[in-house]
Amino acid sequence: MFESNVAVVGAGYVGLTTAACLASLGHRVTCADTDQAKVDTLRAGQATIREPGVRELLVQGLAADRLEFVLGAAAAASEAEIVFLCVPTPMGRDGAADLTTLESVVTELRDVLAPGCVVVTKSTVPVGTAVHIDGLLGRTDVAVVSNPEFLREGSAVHDFLNPERIVIGSEVPPAAERVAVLYKELGAPVVQTDSASAEMIKYAANCYLATRLSYVNAIAELCEHLGADIDDVTRGMGLDQRIGPSFLKPGPGWGGSCLPKDTHALLRTAEALGCDFPLLRATIDTNHRQHELVVEKVRQAVGGRLTGVRIGLLGLTFKANTDDLRDSPALVIAKRMAAEGAELLGFDPSLPGPAPGTTGQMRVVDTPYQAADGAAALTVLTEWPEFRDLDWERIAGLLSGRSVIDTRNHLDPLVLRHAGLSCRQVGHPAPEDLGLAG
Ligand code: UGA
Repeated sequence: MFESNVAVVGAGYVGLTTAACLASLGHRVTCADTDQAKVDTLRAGQATIREPGVRELLVQGLAADRLEFVLGAAAAASEAEIVFLCVPTPMGRDGAADLTTLESVVTELRDVLAPGCVVVTKSTVPVGTAVHIDGLLGRTDVAVVSNPEFLREGSAVHDFLNPERIVIGSEVPPAAERVAVLYKELGAPVVQTDSASAEMIKYAANCYLATRLSYVNAIAELCEHLGADIDDVTRGMGLDQRIGPSFLKPGPGWGGSCLPKDTHALLRTAEALGCDFPLLRATIDTNHRQHELVVEKVRQAVGGRLTGVRIGLLGLTFKANTDDLRDSPALVIAKRMAAEGAELLGFDPSLPGPAPGTTGQMRVVDTPYQAADGAAALTVLTEWPEFRDLDWERIAGLLSGRSVIDTRNHLDPLVLRHAGLSCRQVGHPAPEDLGLAG
């Protein structure tokens, strides 16, 4: 089997998953981070992210001597044949991607890289970044390749090892081929193209996914007014092979570390070019509106005003099976309710204690039952599987009101009804319209 000497710069979600998976494919991987404590933890075989499968691959990679962790990019990259850049590219103040960290890593590596080395961007970066990095490096003996990741948090290892496609873009085809060989045994279709197209594929895919969800959320709102059922509607849509069944679930709005950042970044790119992109603007605006619709449902459920009203929140992460709170719709909604004077009790299974950035606005409690204690309404914001199996009779006894607002269509309304509760979902007519109020 072909075996490469690879460096991965950055041990976050993308970097650590990439490093652990490439090691599992038989490559020798050195992964760098600037955080000494993180490096020490990883060296000890403990995962620093909550991601199924990462710990196992980490332990295997360390034991097989195919994976090591070092402090600083230069220490990892000096002997590597291929260097993956997996550093954060957060949203800057104007909505555009902030490349400060990426640029400083490239500057640090400029004089360290071995001749013939290939530098690969894996983080999501604006179109044109590969060419920009090439200019910053100023090395004719080093090629730059764009190889965007398509990893979903919570199934990143599975997505890495079972890719639907591998996208590789470069102005230097032999360099692109060297990167393609790393993934050869995965047998996925490879889209080999220029770097701008590879970078654009990532934005186009994430922005399409966000647009699809905003569309579904808008259709769900219409369903509520028209007495239609969004779950049946999306099932009927998804059986059309041109549409497909995935990514059609309505919710409290889409969030996370990727879709919000990438939609804003592409919109800024379009604006900078003088290209109007009203569809993408509407995608973002519809998402903000979705947060407001949730707040309005909670307001209605407690009689029209949130001031001084206790509300329980179940699920704070941006989706289930992650501990990531970045750009979580749950926190945006919590913030809006807190601004109206609601007293918030929040619970999330992935958070051991008070969540960063949430203290002050809400009290983070240790059990879902504590979140319900004395609350006028309970709002489910993340689809954690265990919420379906809560003791709803007990919750009914703890709540001061009767309303549960299920923003993920995750609960069984009949079970709640048996417990004497009214369950308001997304894209379903209100229980009172069906004569089902608890
Ligand atoms: C997303 C993309 O799905 C990945 O392909 C991409 O690689 C990644 O961003 C990235 O750019 O790194 P992720 O942010 O982990 O992955 O989350 P998703 O599973 O895509 O969910 C995004 C948001 O949409 C969440 O808030 C989720 O709850 C929401 N969602 C998703 C729905 O409301 N309904 C759905 O049917 C699916």
